[in-house]
Amino acid sequence: MTITSPTAADPTPVSLRRRIELSVDGQPVTVHEGDTLLDACRQVGVEVPTLCFLETLAPVNVCRVCVVEVEGSRTLVPSCSRKAEPGMSVQTASDRVRTSRRMVLELLASSVDLSLAGDDVQRWIAEYGARADRHGPAAAPAAAGERDRARPGHHHVGDGLSAATVHQPAKRDNELYQRDYSRCILCYKCVEACGEDAQNTFAIAVAGRGFDARISTEFDVGLPDSACVYCGNCIAVCPTGALMFTSEADLRAEGAWDEDRQQVTRTVCPYCGVGCNLELHVQDNTIVKVTSPLDHEVTSGNLCVKGRFGFQFAQARRAAD
Ligand code: SF4
Ligand code: SF4
Ligand code: FES
Repeated sequence: MTITSPTAADPTPVSLRRRIELSVDGQPVTVHEGDTLLDACRQVGVEVPTLCFLETLAPVNVCRVCVVEVEGSRTLVPSCSRKAEPGMSVQTASDRVRTSRRMVLELLASSVDLSLAGDDVQRWIAEYGARADRHGPAAAPAAAGERDRARPGHHHVGDGLSAATVHQPAKRDNELYQRDYSRCILCYKCVEACGEDAQNTFAIAVAGRGFDARISTEFDVGLPDSACVYCGNCIAVCPTGALMFTSEADLRAEGAWDEDRQQVTRTVCPYCGVGCNLELHVQDNTIVKVTSPLDHEVTSGNLCVKGRFGFQFAQARRAAD
């Protein structure tokens, strides 16, 4: 998806920015001042894997799977946030770049359940030769709450035979969405969406340090006792299925979730005058989840609790008809 309007990272109108010339893998490319190296790569059709990047959020640079090599730079640079500069010579597929991306993908695949992270992630794992099995079989999952009680600096050394993981039981403490942190890659997207990039509720943040770092509410209280307003904007940006509508999670658990049988209908939220666009995902005549288009210049994929979750009335009405 290409967003040409001003972004959170650079609010200057695109038409007012200077043009910059650089090269990507030897190909000349011209971008606007303020554009990133990722923008330049995409412009010449070079695919760069990304995990923590999203066009509607300010870059946080945490996954480092998007690194590229810039001539004259000592370290690899994250292309999703590094601004293009005149005369830069960028390499996207050098040995250093491929090794670094492989390491990121391999460590994530060995410690996190990436099975719902999408086809691109599975393809990158294969293309970069990331071998999670090199780290041994997965260690036993943590008990419920165990990772949330971890104290900074108290991480246990592994046994050297199995791969440490973030596996733990999914959290289901409300009717609307579940949090399965066995699938969490700590991309921070949910934190950004809940915070100053969209919702400004700050219900969730990263707690802990190192391998024990995890997404948490304040003092690890359940969502109903937290500041959460159930807008679901965190679910909308989560790339791995860690955050999921309960309706989707239940259907998946039954083996009944089937996107090939789903129809997506775009409509306007009926609740207030903002008029947010809704995408109703319907399976077997039942709304199973609601999203909103990311490229909408007013809402950027965000909704409130009513638009996101308040669809039962439509189904109750249909059942009564
Ligand atoms: S539902 Fe909204 S308020 Fe609650 S954690 Fe997610 S983004 Fe924050
Ligand atoms: S819960 Fe999802 S969005 Fe939040 S950090 Fe984990 S993977 Fe990223
Ligand atoms: S996508 Fe660039 S650091 Fe994550």
